Amino acid sequence: MSPLAFPKKFAWGVAMAAAQIEGASFTDGKSASIWDTFARTAGKVRNGDNLDIACDHYHRYREDFELMAKLGIKNYRLSLAWPRILPQGRGSINQAGLDYYKSVLDSLQDEGITPWVTMFHWDLPQALEDQGGWRVRKTVDAFAEYADLIVKTLGDRVKNWITLNEIFCLATLGHEVGSKAPGSHESPAVVNQIYHHAILCHGHGVRAVREHGQRGSRVGIAEVSVVPIPVTETPRDIAAARKAFIASQFRVLDPIYRGRYATEYLRLAGRAAPKVQRNDFNLISLPTDFLGLNIYTGSFVRACKHGRAETLPLPKDYPSSDCTWLKFMPQALHWGPRHAAEIYKVKAIYITENGVGYNDQPPVDGELFDLHRRDYLRNYLCELQRAIALGVPVKGYFLWSFLDNFEWEDGYERRFGIIHTDFATQQRTPKLSARWYSRVMAENRIV
Ligand code: NOJ
Repeated sequence: MSPLAFPKKFAWGVAMAAAQIEGASFTDGKSASIWDTFARTAGKVRNGDNLDIACDHYHRYREDFELMAKLGIKNYRLSLAWPRILPQGRGSINQAGLDYYKSVLDSLQDEGITPWVTMFHWDLPQALEDQGGWRVRKTVDAFAEYADLIVKTLGDRVKNWITLNEIFCLATLGHEVGSKAPGSHESPAVVNQIYHHAILCHGHGVRAVREHGQRGSRVGIAEVSVVPIPVTETPRDIAAARKAFIASQFRVLDPIYRGRYATEYLRLAGRAAPKVQRNDFNLISLPTDFLGLNIYTGSFVRACKHGRAETLPLPKDYPSSDCTWLKFMPQALHWGPRHAAEIYKVKAIYITENGVGYNDQPPVDGELFDLHRRDYLRNYLCELQRAIALGVPVKGYFLWSFLDNFEWEDGYERRFGIIHTDFATQQRTPKLSARWYSRVMAENRIV
């Protein structure tokens, strides 16, 4: 095998999410999500951008899938908008919403593209937020109803299910830092409870697929990791980085894979520890078929006294993208899956997101030379390949993102696409990175 080759049957794909691309925020019976509300609150989203039109993918999905197929894309991770299907979060069904996703999935099939469907990618129905949102356990019951419904009605078209996307962001960034919807600042006890409710929803997602999914259905979560990278690849620094990885997952992957909260987490949380009901962990730790990791960046860690992990500060001119949080750390794509495989004995890992945001300038004569994005991706993939060569069971990679789209609180300025979107005309233009990625997928190796 050439050193830059990937295993046979490696699943290459791209990822997007409903709220970021669809637009049609209030069309055909869709109700507001917390992001529609957040974007309408002054000062929350850059330039006052909202999700009303986005990439107008709601009306243009057929053309978008044709373009995917033309580039040789075989796997597409998309999400369903909960408020399009159950406008009140539970109860009465919006048939137009379900029909929309049926025809989206049919079009994908026509183009020979396999869907990987995320049940929940942050767009909580506002109606549920009005009743307490993630803070209350009733939302878990609503999610269970939603998960049952989508698996029952779309399960003939979907075999690969992803329960929730990045619980860290919806919980910590949404309810502690307040930079994402709903933008609140809760106490540690409430934030911990929100994590608990979210992992319960993950459990319901798994349960729904097991109960109603068709033969061959598979399910897993997609969680983000700011990956602790050993600053040198020595046993001591590697051990320190592993410890830091576990601590960073005390509220998501650790309870999911171990079926309990770590003693150290409970000690640290003290009186702010989440309230757990009997049998919660039976649901939370239901076996999954794969682990999805969204990996963009990391932190450098070394062992200090007694093997404790120390995170090193970055010099101020350390290479970065146009997102301040997204530093250039290709080794994250090596160590993220490697930690997860070694610690939790995961047998199948998918990189459910990796990519980079720059404020790209518009194309000139139909071309956009995003060499920074191309080089970022190429370096990250080399590190992923190194992990696979060592035996880490990574089975696929989804590039974030296909189109430039609504980058949450950063609005439309920050572009993650390999396809440029002109938001005034909705013209799509493949960037240099798209042509390059197309060759990578076709040759199943880094070119
Ligand atoms: C994580 C999220 O899942 C996605 O929605 C977001 O656009 C990308 N990372 C980039 O920030």
